[in-house]
Formats: sequence, structure tokens, C-alpha cells
Amino acid sequence: MTSQDAMPIAEPFELPCGLKISNRIVKAAMEESLGSGDNQPNEYIYRLYDRWAKGSYGLLLTGNVQVDERYPGLMTDLMISSKEKTDIEKWKRYADASQSHGTPTIVQINHAGRQSPMGKRPFRQPPIAPSPIPMSMGDSFIARALQRIVMPEPKEMTVAQIEDVVQRFADTAEIMAKAGFAGVEIHGSHGYLVSSFLSPKSNKRTDDYGSTPKARMKFLFEIIDAIRAVVPRTFAVGVKLNSSDFSAGGLTEDEARDQFRWIDEHGGIDFIEISGGTYESPAMAGTEYIPRSERTRKREAYFLEFAAKVRNTTTIPLIVTGGFRTRKGMNDAVRSNACDFVGIARPTCLQFNLPEILLDKTLADEHARAIQYEIRGTQLFNLIPINAVGSGVTTLWHNWQMHRVAIDNCEPDPSLTVHGKILSTLLKLLKKSTPSILMIFCVIFISIFIKRVFL
Ligand SMILES: Cc1cc2nc3c(=O)[nH]c(=O)nc-3n(C[C@H](O)[C@H](O)[C@H](O)COP(=O)(O)O)c2cc1C
Repeated sequence: MTSQDAMPIAEPFELPCGLKISNRIVKAAMEESLGSGDNQPNEYIYRLYDRWAKGSYGLLLTGNVQVDERYPGLMTDLMISSKEKTDIEKWKRYADASQSHGTPTIVQINHAGRQSPMGKRPFRQPPIAPSPIPMSMGDSFIARALQRIVMPEPKEMTVAQIEDVVQRFADTAEIMAKAGFAGVEIHGSHGYLVSSFLSPKSNKRTDDYGSTPKARMKFLFEIIDAIRAVVPRTFAVGVKLNSSDFSAGGLTEDEARDQFRWIDEHGGIDFIEISGGTYESPAMAGTEYIPRSERTRKREAYFLEFAAKVRNTTTIPLIVTGGFRTRKGMNDAVRSNACDFVGIARPTCLQFNLPEILLDKTLADEHARAIQYEIRGTQLFNLIPINAVGSGVTTLWHNWQMHRVAIDNCEPDPSLTVHGKILSTLLKLLKKSTPSILMIFCVIFISIFIKRVFL
């Protein structure tokens, strides 16, 4: 039987909270880089999600929304400053746009922790983290110099600060429930704050929040409990977790497996999304970013083997994200019972209706897949000896594709080159600033003229 005859990814699923999901294809979280000014949802966000809403996904996960505007991953993230200052109408419009065709949308909520280079906080005020251990940008001289400026040593969080962040996660979840979203996903992977509490490399605390592997979970458990206390029982609460940090001294698969078991015992979670890596070692972006020594057999989905191992330690529904491109790969993953859902991120910026292709039974397996594309112009950036620069340029390229749809109101363009885009942006900037440059020349010219003739 071919995979188009039996289609596990087309089957509906119900989360423990009762949320009904029509198929197993999840659009994974991608920071949209569309926030500015008040960093609230805007027309661009509505237009972007209107496209995904029409794409026949089972579930949409939004890009990460920051629970504290002082510590975002990027200044272009959507952010919450406080419950009181939030314009709920803007979030309601976001929920309506993304769910206009019946696909439930879950908002990913995050605190960037030690990976927050800047935010709405005083200049040079460092980020906060479980322990004062900076994120390494690499061993080269240039990486270490840049790290001092961009990712300085974070300040160890006091217990009062921990309680404040827990409250902010709960407040943000409450806002999203009121706005009409179907749930929230706590971002517990990729090295951000929750993930850094879960990792022995970045959490060296000796108090209740870090003295043992189980104690490293306390922060996450408090967030789950605080959210559950303020949202309806039917509201989905999930978490994205690392299978491993792929970094020496970081979270290992063994400890990650214990974490899944402890979350199951703790309760309150409707799904776990499996990813891996941090910005020191961005395994979420592909096996080429995993140190050669740690790479396992090349396969379509990067973290599927881990999912199969962890499956027996938890009854919580699992999403695996990273690398899925073909219907066959997706169907095989769900059929093997390693996961319940497949998460897809990058291809969905080019094919907003990807599930329609994947679920089309008239298509043979070899055609039922995401388009293949090569991002031209990234080679030069891969040579820069700073961690995550290569994957960062790839991320940016996908942001540009989203912006073509959201801002320019046109279609994505897989042929877009990195150097071409940089050049056109520079030209645009130059064009915009031509009047100011002319004005400066005029002022200089007039002052010389006045000096020569009158003085
Ligand atoms: C533009 C872009 C933005 C991303 N932003 C987020 C994010 O906000 N939260 C998150 O958990 N992962 C984020 N990711 C990672 C993806 O969710 C996903 O884990 C990764 O791209 C691997 O999946 P894929 O191979 O299907 O692209 C982002 C990836 C890209 C390309």
C-alpha cells in the first residue's frame, strides 16, 4: 500500500483539553519580524495569518510572542508589556484572522533570557538568566569580541524575578485566551529562558531551581501551574522542548527523556513539540549545524529517533518539528507511532497551502512534497566564524518571504538571493535618504558661499 492510500496525516485528533484538530499537519512557530512601535499585532500580521488560515493545516503555531518586552529575542517580535497596557482588540483581530477558516491557532509564548541582545530596557543593562553564564558566539577572536557587546554576561535571576516571569507567562496566556486563541505553547527549547533553566550548562543554581535535574524543572512547572490557574480547562497548553542541546555540557537525550516523564507525572500539558539545539549549536535548523561527531544517520526529520525513544515514557501527544518535507516521510512518522503530529516551518513560508498538496490523494507520493529550493548567497555567511550566523541568514531569508506576502502583498519568491535582497534594501535606503543627503550638501555649499562672500 502506498502512503497516499493510507494517510495517517489526514486523520483527526483530539487533545486532552478537548481541542479538535482536523489533521496532523502543524505549521510550526516562526518569528515573523513584523513588530514595531508598540509591538502589537498589526495589518501585516493579519494579512500573513489570513494566508496560513486558508492553507488546510490541522493547527497553526504562531511565532514567539514575548512575555516581557524588556527581554525579547528580537526588537521586531510581538511583545506584551503588561495586562493593563495590552490592546486586546488587536489580539482578537489576530485570533480571528488566523482562525477564520476553522484552523485552531496556538500562540507560542517566550522569554528570551540570556539570548536577548536588546529590548525595551536601559542601554547596556544585561539580560537575565538562571546563572551568569553568557551564550557563546564561538571561539574566534571576532566572535568573542562581538559576544561582549551583543550577548554580555546575564544577571543571575533572584527568586523575586523568577516569580515575576512566571506571572508574566500566566498573564500572557490569559490575554491569549481572552482574545480567542485555542491555546498557548511555552517555548522551552532553543536556549531561551525556560530552556536555559532546563539545561545543566546554563543552570548552575544551587537553590530549589537548579540543584538537581528535577529541580531544573521547577521553573517550567510553576509556569504551567500559573497558566492553568487562569485559563479555561478547554484551552490548550503545550510546550516545545529540546531533545538535546547538541552542545558539550548541555542537555543530553537521557536527561531530556526524564524531563518528558516528569512533565507527564506533573500534568497540565496537552502536547509536547520536540526540537533541539540552541543558538550556540542551532540543530533545529538542520543536521549540518550539529557538530559532526554528534550527527546521527541522515534522515528526513531531525528528531524522530528521539521521539520514538521517548514515546513510551509519556502519554502526552507529541509533535516532531524539523526537516519534514515529504508526505511519505510524514505518513511514515505518524504511522510508526513515534509522533502524533508533524511540524513544518520553513517550507510554509513559500507554500502557504502546503497541506493541500500533501493531502491530495490524486498526487503520487513523489509529487506530494514541499518544493525544493536552494537559498543562493548564503555561502559567504557560512564562512563567518560566529555561531548561528549561517542559520541566522537562512532565518532572515524566510522572514523576507513572509514580508513579501505581509508587507508587499505579493507572492513568495524562492529565487530571491541573499546578496540581491541586501543590495535592493541598500538602494532603497539610499533612495529614501537622497533628499537628506542633498540637503546636507546644500547647507555645506551655502555656508561656504556665505563665508567667502560676506565674511
Ligand atoms: C524565520 C524563522 C523563524 C523561527 N522562529 C521560531 C520561533 O519563534 N519559535 C520557535 O520555536 N522556533 C522558531 N523557528 C524554528 C522552527 O519552528 C523550526 O523548529 C525549524 O525551522 C525546523 O523546522 P523546519 O525544518 O520545518 O523548518 C524559526 C525558524 C525560522 C526559519
